[in-house]
Amino acid sequence: MNKSSIYDCVIIPLNKIHNRAGNITVIEGKKHLPFDIKRVYYLYDIPGGEGRGGHAHKELFQLIIAASGAFDVFLDDGQNKKIVTLNRPNFGLLVVPGIWRELLEFSSGAICLVLASNIYNENDYIREYKDYINYKSMST
Ligand code: TYD
Repeated sequence: MNKSSIYDCVIIPLNKIHNRAGNITVIEGKKHLPFDIKRVYYLYDIPGGEGRGGHAHKELFQLIIAASGAFDVFLDDGQNKKIVTLNRPNFGLLVVPGIWRELLEFSSGAICLVLASNIYNENDYIREYKDYINYKSMST
């Protein structure tokens, strides 16, 4: 997926089951997402001014959700860049493989929920931006 672009990274509206006692959003892999969910993790207690993420994945698909609060996701495919603000728990950002991402501007108490298509694998990470640019320039 080294030819992927930021335009493949789209907001996915999620369901919301509402009643007087609040809301529930349900996500089932493959049914609501273009991948099966093999891992869930969440970022929280993020100190003000800190950023996370600075990396790309070779094969991993992710859905990133602001389960609470708000933050920005900076996306870069080596040519195009965009910033997506997430601030509603019933919308997720699909991040396809081969995209450089950074998470920034976390509001106080924000929780970043991530649904991922595979288990943790350090070999799937590209952690240096220059390595990422090389990876994107390689023909498939
Ligand atoms: P990393 O993905 O680099 O976090 P971020 O990009 O948000 O700053 O992960 C931070 C650390 O946590 C790193 O040492 C690897 C570890 N980690 C796991 O062991 N399993 C996981 O599923 C994740 C996401 C991270």
